[in-house]
Order: sequence, then structure tokens, then C-alpha cells
Amino acid sequence: MRRHGAILTRVTAIEDAGAGVKRFTLQDPEGWALPPARPGGHVDLFLPGGLTRTYSLCGDPARGDRYVIAVKREAEGRGGSAYLHDQVEVGDEIQVGLPRGGVPLGPGFHLFVAGGIGVTPFLSAAAALLAQGRRDFRLHVLSRGAPPLGDQIAPLMDAGLARLHDTARTVRPAVADLLAALPEGASAACCGPAPLLADFGAATDHWPAERVHLELFVPPPLVPDPDARAYKLVLARTGVEIDVPAGAGMAQALASVGVEVPVSCGGGICGTCAVTYLEGTPLHRDRCLSQTERASKLMPCVAQSAGARLVLDL
Ligand code: FES
Repeated sequence: MRRHGAILTRVTAIEDAGAGVKRFTLQDPEGWALPPARPGGHVDLFLPGGLTRTYSLCGDPARGDRYVIAVKREAEGRGGSAYLHDQVEVGDEIQVGLPRGGVPLGPGFHLFVAGGIGVTPFLSAAAALLAQGRRDFRLHVLSRGAPPLGDQIAPLMDAGLARLHDTARTVRPAVADLLAALPEGASAACCGPAPLLADFGAATDHWPAERVHLELFVPPPLVPDPDARAYKLVLARTGVEIDVPAGAGMAQALASVGVEVPVSCGGGICGTCAVTYLEGTPLHRDRCLSQTERASKLMPCVAQSAGARLVLDL
């Protein structure tokens, strides 16, 4: 069944990208251009069984006729990567959502720090910078052994724009050392496993927020919010009212009355489940909405309420 607002794509290539990663090329079945994506943006893939999974785009954003994603097979994952690795073949159709997010690429030098498969958004960002004639960036890839997408990293290494740190052979570099001696006004971005993100966060906690960017692919652990209270969740379009106990999940409350919002990360980082609210004071707890967006949107996979009533535009 065609999901409302989804784009129908066809898998036109599947490649082994090394390190347990497959690279999938998705194109319009009739070859039309796809909605444009920002460098390092991501898309939701709507998979059978109601699975929604979000993947960063790793291709050249100037190639408007394709979305290229890299998927690491996670044996302990929730089934999305195993399905893509084991079931999907060239010629299959996959519905995807509109691209979102991306790596900010303003003026000035950019330092990208990637752990393993976390290199994906920065390959797209690097392609975009090179297309602008810019070489004012460096990509550091930390990987235990050969990294995924080595064929895309190699040309950047040859050009002196990327460096590989094989942590099976050498000590993992301190993020603070990678950030040392950057030009004035430089920006830094990081994507990778939680320990790397934590080091990066610690090394940049005194930086201006607008010059730091984190790409999360594993949601941080959610801690109970002491301000969360029991509340009435009101669906404005149907008048349905749900009593939600303090600390209970909003997405689950919606599901209990048959309203399914698409959930991918389930942890407030991917932006898939965004809903508009009309009244109330949400406790947002996500890591993907801007302050401006929070004035009207919330992420029901993590949001709770600080007030007694919250009205959604559903
Ligand atoms: S499902 Fe990812 S932010 Fe809600």
C-alpha cells in the first residue's frame, strides 16, 4: 500500500561497501528527479511490517536522480538492516519519505569526525563542498580495520582531505587533538558510536553551538523527567481524548486509540514521528527539533507534557 506522502523508488544497484555494509541506490522507477536533499540529509525507508528506518544519504547530493544509502547489517538490530541486506534485490520497490536534516555547510573551515558507518553523511557533505570548489575541510575516519565505503573515502585521502585512523593498529586519537589548531571560526561535526560522540561533546562543550553539529544514529538513553505529569492528550481533528499517566509514552498512547505515527529511532533523534501541537506545554526531550520548530512541533516517541492538557493536530 502506498503510504501518504511517500516517494516510490526502485533499487537500481546494491554494492558490497565493505565492513558489513551494503550500499543501495534508489531511483524513481521512471527515471525522474527525486526531491532534493541537503548534503548529509537522511531519508526514512518504509519497509514491510510497518518498519520505518532512517538512513543518511552518502552520495553526491548534486545527483538529483538518486538517493544512495549505506546500511550496516546489525545482527542485534530491530530488523530493518537485516531485511535490507537479506531480502531486498535490485528491481525491488521501496517507499521513502522526503529527505530531512543535513550537515550545515556554512562559510569557514569544516572538520568532520566519523566513527565507522558514521562516515556516511560526511561523504555527502564532502561531495557538496568539492562541487562548490571548496577544499576547506578535513574528514577523520576512525575505524577498527578497513572502514566501510572505502572506495568513497580513498579519493578524499588521495587529495589530502581525509585521514583514516585504523584503531586496530594505532591508538584511537583524542578528539581534542583532532580539533586542535583549527582555523579561527571553524565548525566541527561528528557522527559515530556513543563513546566517540561523548568525547566530541566534551571537547566542544565550550564552542558556540552554531559551530558544532552532532549526527546521532543511536538514541541517547532517556531518563525520567521529574516535570512530567499525567495529562489529557486531545486529538483536535477527531475530538478523541486520552488520559496519559505521568511518564507514559505518547506514541503508545496514540497507538492505543488506533493512531499510528511512523516511528523509526524511537528515541528523538531522527525526526520521523514529528507531530504539530496546538495547545499545551510539551516536555520535548528530542535531539532533532530546533528551538523554532519546538514552538509548534513535538516528537511523540519521546515527548511528555508539563501541563494537564496537550492538544495535537491529529
Ligand atoms: S521516531 Fe525518531 S524522532 Fe521519533
